[in-house]
Amino acid sequence: MKPIKHGGNLREAARLYSIPLENWIDLSTGINPRSWIPPDIPIAVWQRLPEADDDLLSAAQHYYACDDLLPVAGSQVAIQSLPYCRARSRVAIIRPSYAEHAYWWQQAGHEVIYITTDDIDLLIHTLDVLVLINPNNPDGKQYSVSKLLKWHQQLNKKKGWLIVDEAFMDSTPEKSLLSQHTNMPEGLIILRSIGKFFGLAGIRLGFIAAEPKLLQQIAHQQGPWAVSHPARWLGALALKDQQWQQQTRHFLAQQSQKMYQILSPSFHNIQQSHYFCYIQHPQAKQIKQQLAQKGIWVRYFENPLALRFGLAANNAALQKLKAFFLRNNSLE
Ligand SMILES: Cc1ncc(COP(=O)(O)O)c(C=O)c1O
Repeated sequence: MKPIKHGGNLREAARLYSIPLENWIDLSTGINPRSWIPPDIPIAVWQRLPEADDDLLSAAQHYYACDDLLPVAGSQVAIQSLPYCRARSRVAIIRPSYAEHAYWWQQAGHEVIYITTDDIDLLIHTLDVLVLINPNNPDGKQYSVSKLLKWHQQLNKKKGWLIVDEAFMDSTPEKSLLSQHTNMPEGLIILRSIGKFFGLAGIRLGFIAAEPKLLQQIAHQQGPWAVSHPARWLGALALKDQQWQQQTRHFLAQQSQKMYQILSPSFHNIQQSHYFCYIQHPQAKQIKQQLAQKGIWVRYFENPLALRFGLAANNAALQKLKAFFLRNNSLE
């Protein structure tokens, strides 16, 4: 199996283009470049095994306004576990979207079909599982709560699942399906990540919200201590830091708008979200290479040909990008 490509591979960029790691501007991920800053971690947190009855679950229940949660070592763990919790099923996945979902359902022997958002109403009666990313990575597409609730009802009637990956939802919590459910109903599964909004991809922490029976099954698959003690300790603090969360929602909206303004003179079809700008373009590969030669690393997609620009950490990075596009103003 060919490994799936992801952003954030700056070491590879540095090797390929012979530019030292520290000289790159990394716009290749959808991760908040100005992360929550962790305090010093007490030595006991490094030394002692993680305990399930620490602060993390209650902090998460409060933050997500939902009781039925399981912490996992990144929402990626949920993506890999869920396909093993169902008998062979017909699973629909939207294209383009984060490729790990389709890969793991296929690995587990399910029938995976790729559909577009417009196909959902037409096909839903033929599906056992519908996987959506809201907002979608890479194109930022959003689904309304009312549509999602309708699709969940239709699937649940025949014991199907609606999986909504909300890895990029933290900047718009009012649009989360979690705002509808203190207790999770059967057939609805929501994934959340601490990596994106909090900018803490390295600690590997995320959550699954689902009915308790399914959470118990996944907890059992994971075994004890699946989330490290430092990740649990830091995660609880980050989830409780409401002041930082509020400032960050503002920062992300602002940075995303600045990115849009730099890109819009060169591209007419930008799809914008709070975490990235996505552009389908026939010359995507060439533009990615030209940017890389200047030490700017963006995410390139082959199918369809597209680029995704993550947020810049600061004005210096934005200025460098702006200078690139002013020099190359004949891209269209
Ligand atoms: C849509 C989506 N879901 C889930 C993940 C996995 O994130 P994590 O395992 O860091 O929570 C990613 C990572 O890029 C993603 O883009």
